[in-house]
Amino acid sequence: MDSADRWAGLRQRALALLQQNLVVVPPHRYTRPAPSVYEHQWLWDSCFHAIVYRWLDPAMAADELLSVVQHQVAAGPDEGMIPHMTYWRGGGEALWGIAERSVITQPPLIAVAARLLAERGGPPALLGQLYEPLCAYHAWFDRRRDPDGDDLVALIHPWESGWDAAPRWDAAMGLDRPSDEASRVARKELAATLRRYACDAAALAEAGFFHVEAIDYNAIRAADLEALAWLAAELGHAAESAHWSARAQAVRRAVGGRLLQPGPRDLAGPDETPITAPSAAPFVALFGGCADAEQADALHAALGGAPFWTPYPIATTPRDDPDFGPDRYWRGNVWLNVNWLIMRGLRRYGYAQTAAALAERSIALVEHAGFWEYYHPISGQGYGSFPHSWSAIVLDMALGG
Ligand code: GLC
Repeated sequence: MDSADRWAGLRQRALALLQQNLVVVPPHRYTRPAPSVYEHQWLWDSCFHAIVYRWLDPAMAADELLSVVQHQVAAGPDEGMIPHMTYWRGGGEALWGIAERSVITQPPLIAVAARLLAERGGPPALLGQLYEPLCAYHAWFDRRRDPDGDDLVALIHPWESGWDAAPRWDAAMGLDRPSDEASRVARKELAATLRRYACDAAALAEAGFFHVEAIDYNAIRAADLEALAWLAAELGHAAESAHWSARAQAVRRAVGGRLLQPGPRDLAGPDETPITAPSAAPFVALFGGCADAEQADALHAALGGAPFWTPYPIATTPRDDPDFGPDRYWRGNVWLNVNWLIMRGLRRYGYAQTAAALAERSIALVEHAGFWEYYHPISGQGYGSFPHSWSAIVLDMALGG
């Protein structure tokens, strides 16, 4: 099969998958991550869906991003926050005390997705529609999630990272080698606790709850700020563009200076205790342009080693780690959205061959197993929900996005 046929087949399968998971709530449309388990809308999932849809249906890509900002918090201390979950038909009450949205966020990729869409001829009005909400969102991060003012925002719940049950969060959750069930229960309890503290990051940290400056999250934020600066420039707001560029630069510097050295880490709690549990998260620093040349070379070398570069790369927990759980949710599986972030970072730094190899193995994984939520890094077996929308991101990898 030549690559034109191969990509045409992949394109068709990606479109069928996304259409199967389409949800219409007039006048809005979004894509659920998967049937039954994931009926609602998730923030970073929708960004990945939009990035895929830019090749298939730019109007739908725009709708995906517009729907995700509809439940942005309009007033109060968290004004500007964009929720990690939108419950278009209600159902959030039990967990969050609010029917239609959660009270936490997720990796900020909306400006990145909007820029990628604009580059493929997305609807011209979209940038103007997203700009103010995204400015308010990033202002919220600076105001509410950086209590120590070091340009690194803190997560107050593992759900915000998108890496729900990763071993890197165990200690900060007060867990020691937990069972999947124990870890799940702890996340639910923390969700209830957040409300008692009105989601105040500083107060939660003081009280000893989860408070983590995460390397991948802050790198993604740097990329999103950079994209926001681009949006501002496109809309003719030169001074604001310079402001967002400066913010991006400050975050890049903070990640490079404090989370990539002395060695890659996340920082936990008000006293910034290093979390050294090894994971693939540091590779995402490349996505945000946060590494200097030496740091980038070290990351690139580590990525190519057997612990991470498994038969189906990339294991999110390295294979030689005692916590490696290849079939356990977020404890060592392959997640194709994470592969996409790393692939883009590799390209950004000029590691074109490794980026191409990662794209090829990711596409091969979907061809081997189908569109699963996550995969076994050695056998390639699919796990979790099926068919899962964000695994269509391999189409963007194939088409050179
Ligand atoms: C799981 C993942 C999270 C994702 C959600 C929907 O909770 O951990 O990152 O956004 O599913 O796919």
